[in-house]
Amino acid sequence: MNTPKRYTITTALPYTNGAIHIGHLAGVYVPADIYARYLRLTGNDVILIGGSDEHGVPITIKAKNEGVTPQDIVDKYHAIIKKSFEDFGITYDNYSRTSAQVHHKTASEFFTTLNDKEEFVEEVTEQLYDAEANQFLADRFVVGTCPKCGNEESYGDQCENCGTSHNATDLINPKSALTGNTPTLKQTKHWFLPLDKHEAFLKEWILEGHKKDWKSNVYGQCKSWIDDGLRPRAVTRDLNWGIPVPAEGGEGKVLYVWFDAPIGYISSTVEWAEREGKDWEPYWKDKDTKLVHFIGKDNIVFHCIIFPAMLKAEGSYILPENVPANEFLNLEGNKLSTSKNWAVWLPDYLEEFPGQQDVLRYVLTANAPETKDNDFTWKDFQARNNNELVAIFGNFINRVVVLTNKYYDGVVPTANALSQVDEETLAAVKAYPDVISSSIERYRFREAQQELMNLARLGNKYLADEEPWKVIKVDEARTQTIMYVALQIASALATLCEPFLPFTSEKLKNILNVGSSDSTEENCIENSWNEISTKNILLPSGHQIGKAELLFSKIEDQTIQAQLDKLKASKKANEAANKEVEPQKDTITFEDFTKLDIRVGTILEAEKMPKAKKLLVLKVDTGIDVRTIVSGIAESFTAEEVVGKKVTVLVNLAPRKLRGVESQGMILMTETPEGKLVFVNPDDANAVNGLQIS
Ligand code: 2FM
Ligand code: ZN
Repeated sequence: MNTPKRYTITTALPYTNGAIHIGHLAGVYVPADIYARYLRLTGNDVILIGGSDEHGVPITIKAKNEGVTPQDIVDKYHAIIKKSFEDFGITYDNYSRTSAQVHHKTASEFFTTLNDKEEFVEEVTEQLYDAEANQFLADRFVVGTCPKCGNEESYGDQCENCGTSHNATDLINPKSALTGNTPTLKQTKHWFLPLDKHEAFLKEWILEGHKKDWKSNVYGQCKSWIDDGLRPRAVTRDLNWGIPVPAEGGEGKVLYVWFDAPIGYISSTVEWAEREGKDWEPYWKDKDTKLVHFIGKDNIVFHCIIFPAMLKAEGSYILPENVPANEFLNLEGNKLSTSKNWAVWLPDYLEEFPGQQDVLRYVLTANAPETKDNDFTWKDFQARNNNELVAIFGNFINRVVVLTNKYYDGVVPTANALSQVDEETLAAVKAYPDVISSSIERYRFREAQQELMNLARLGNKYLADEEPWKVIKVDEARTQTIMYVALQIASALATLCEPFLPFTSEKLKNILNVGSSDSTEENCIENSWNEISTKNILLPSGHQIGKAELLFSKIEDQTIQAQLDKLKASKKANEAANKEVEPQKDTITFEDFTKLDIRVGTILEAEKMPKAKKLLVLKVDTGIDVRTIVSGIAESFTAEEVVGKKVTVLVNLAPRKLRGVESQGMILMTETPEGKLVFVNPDDANAVNGLQIS
C-alpha cells in the first residue's frame, strides 16, 4: 500500500444561475467525491474543496430578466446547489462562494501580487460597446458567429458548439445581447496576462511532463491550444458585478470571472482552515501535496493553461498534478440544456426518487463520459437499477442476511473445514481493494465500480453454487461454513462500496452491525479499505448482525414512463416557443367579412358523441335560437366543464352532418402551441398573440 499523502481536490465552481443537473454530477462531482472518499478511506490527508461561482455575465443577465439584483440570484441558487451536493453525499470539506469576503480579499491580493511583480501587461484596446445600453459588451453580453466553427450563436468568450475560447472582438457579425444592436468599438484599458510569456514553461510542463499521465482528451486540448500560439488574455472587464480591480485606473472595472473563480479554490481552502484551526498553505504550497482539479471538458483551458500560468506567475504555489476532465453527458440522445429545460435537475430527482441518491450516483458512474460523450437514458437507468443493483448487489446481501437470521438468529456461524472453493473465494475477496484502488488512482471510476460489482457477483455465484438452502437439510456444519464465507464477502462489500454508494454502505454497515456512524463502541468492528486485504476475518463468528432491510427496490415501467413524459412535455414546450406563427392569409374585402355572422352564445347542454374520441354534441343558445353544434373539442374538455360557458359562434356556416348529427354552426376555438384547445377569448392566458381562430 502507498504511503499516505496530502491531497487538495477541487471541483469546478458551478455558476449560480440555475440548479445542478445530472450532467454536472456525472462529469465532475460524483467522480471527485469517489476519489476523495477513497483517499480518505486509505488513510490520506484529503480536502475536497468546492464553492459557487457567483460572478460573470450570465448571472447579471438573469437578474436583469427577472427584475432582481445579481445578489438575489446568487443567494437563491447558492443555497439550492449547496443543498443538492449535501443531499447527494458529496463530502466537501468546504463549500464556499465567490461573493464571500474571504474570496474578494484572496483574489484581490492575488491580483495585486501579480500586478506588483509586473506580471500583467496593461493595454488600451478597442472593445465592443453598446451605445444604447451605455455599456461595454464583455463575454456573454455579445453573441455572434464563431470564427472557428461558424456557429451563429457563439458567446463573446466561448463557443458552446466547438468549445473554443475567444475574445468578443473575434466574433463575426457580433450583436449586443442587451439590445440586439451591432456594437461599435470603443477604447478602454485592461490588464492582460501574457500567456505567450509562459509558453516555454507550459510546453515543458504539459507537453513533455504530462503526456503520459493526463487523459488524452485533456492533453489533446492543451496541445492544440499551445500549438495555435498563446496570446495575452485580458483578466479584467468593464462591468459592475464582480471583484473591483484593485489598481490605479481600475475604477468601474472588475476582475474577469475566469480570473477570480479558480482563486476560489484557494479562498475556500482558507475559509476551511480558519474554521478548522488549520494551516491552509501546505495544501497549496507544499510540493508534496497532490493538487487535482475535477472539471468538465469546457473548462480544460482555464485549468490547464490559464490558472497554472497565474499560479506560476505568483511564484509560491504548486501546480495541478492532474486535471481528469470528463467529456459531456447527453440526455436521451440530446445535449443537456438549461435554457431548453432538457435536463434532470437534482432537486426534481430527489423529489421523484426519494432516498435513491445512490441509484443515480451508480448509473452516472456506470455511464460516466470518461473518454467520450455519453448518453443517459431513463430505460438504462431502470435496467441498471433492476438488473444490477437490485438483482446482483441487493439480492446477494438480502440472501445472506435473511438466511443468517433464519438459521442462526443473526449470529455469524463458526467456519468449519474450508473447502478449496471457500479458500479461493476468500483469497479472491482479498484481491479486490488493490484492483479497485488501481482503477480509481488512474481516474477510471467506471472500471472501478465494475470491479466492485464483480465482487457482488462473486458473492451471488458463491451462494448459487454452494446452495446453503439445500445443504442445510443434510449438512449443518457445511452450511455454517458457507454462511460464514458469504458474510465475509458482505462485509468486504460494505467497506469497498463506500466511495461509490455511500448511503448503501452506511445502511449495509448498520445491517451487519459494523463500523458505521450508528455503531456503539462494543459492537464496532472497523474494516478499513486496506484491512479487507490483510485481515483473515472481517466478521468474526459469534458477531450479531441485524435484520434484513432492502438496499434497493425495483423501479417500475410507469415510473420511467412518467420521466419520459416529462421530457416530452419539455420538448413540446420548447418547440412551441420556437414555432413560427401562421402566415397571414390573403386579404379579404369588407364585404367578405360582413358575410360572417358571429354571435355570442352560451352552451346549455353537452354530451359526448358515442364512439367519437374528439366530438361533443352541444346545445347552444345563440340569442337567435337554441341549436345543435357538433364540436371537435372532446379531447380538451369534458361535457360537464363546458356547460354554462359563454362562447363565440359562427352562426351562418352551412349546416353539415357529423356522424349523423347535423351541426348548425361553429364554436370559434384556437389551439395553443402546446396543442391545447382554448375558447376564443383573448383574455385567456393561453391565447397568445398570433394564434389563428378556427
Ligand atoms: O463552467 C463553469 O460552470 C464555471 N463556473 C466553472 C468555474 S471552475 C473554477 F475555475 F472555478
Ligand atoms: Zn465554435
